[in-house]
Amino acid sequence: MDIKAYLESRCKIVDAALHKYLPGGKAYPRVIHEAMRYSVFAGGKRVRPILAIMTAETLGYKAERVLPAACSLELIHTYSLIHDDLPCMDDDDFRRGKPTNHKVFGEAVAVLTGDALLTFAFELITRNAAAKGVKPAGVIEALRLIAAASGTGGMVGGQVVDMISEKKEPSLPVLQYIHTHKTGALILAPIMAAAELCAAGAKEKKALRIYGENLGLIFQIVDDILNVTGVEKKLGKSVGSDAARKKVTYPALYGIEESRRKVRELRERAGKAAGHFGRKAALLNALADYVIERES
Ligand code: IPE
Ligand code: IPE
Ligand code: MG
Ligand code: MG
Repeated sequence: MDIKAYLESRCKIVDAALHKYLPGGKAYPRVIHEAMRYSVFAGGKRVRPILAIMTAETLGYKAERVLPAACSLELIHTYSLIHDDLPCMDDDDFRRGKPTNHKVFGEAVAVLTGDALLTFAFELITRNAAAKGVKPAGVIEALRLIAAASGTGGMVGGQVVDMISEKKEPSLPVLQYIHTHKTGALILAPIMAAAELCAAGAKEKKALRIYGENLGLIFQIVDDILNVTGVEKKLGKSVGSDAARKKVTYPALYGIEESRRKVRELRERAGKAAGHFGRKAALLNALADYVIERES
């Protein structure tokens, strides 16, 4: 399985769709549309939309079946990054290798860019109803899953606890809450939304949920490790910022070696769940390995 080639090809599908869906950069009021496109096309890995596509393919369907919902998750994710980087939150100057949205467009436009991406994402999901073979009930359930994963029961909840826990004594329950919510929710959502859009069965959904939950945790622990050991140029964002802000992270609580051991343990669980798909598990497994081995 050549995962690099796979990611490149699916990334192209996602980028072309995002270009098509998003309002033109010159549309009035120009600054907001420019700012939306600036952050969306700054160079993200597109992990969340690719997870939706990968799930559809594992279930025997093509990317087109889930493309609007897949792209909506990239828009929600990008909004979360723009707000996360604001001076009132993590106060970061670089993202995806470029100056952060507020550094270029100012804080007010950056807040509105996040708002615009979030609302547009939900407009976009409804377009998934036009995909061949997709039932309205599947779209409604995908929409509900994505909304729930984005709100206080998901990403926003995790961001709040991440913020209020800064400079406090780290504890495992708080750490787990932060990771499963601020990141895990938006990693699991594309997988489960795609499962709904592809009318997956109960056993398939159960396996995908276990795989996605473990992958979400892996993703954030690796992000924490890269914040300590990563190379800024490759990552496209600042290194060492978690320690500087006294964030609750796996390395802060357990150190790098134990964090890596935890990743291996979660990878094993993800692999077991992926095993449900027999020979088709290769893609799920390759993607989990990529998430662990990534340098950006
Ligand atoms: C970064 O996510 C923020 C986290 C939730 C850990 P990604 O590592 O997917 O960032 P991009 O989309 O590639 O920039
Ligand atoms: C970002 O978390 C998760 C979001 C919901 C935006 P972090 O603050 O840990 O991620 P980076 O390091 O800025 O990408
Ligand atoms: Mg943060
Ligand atoms: Mg941050």
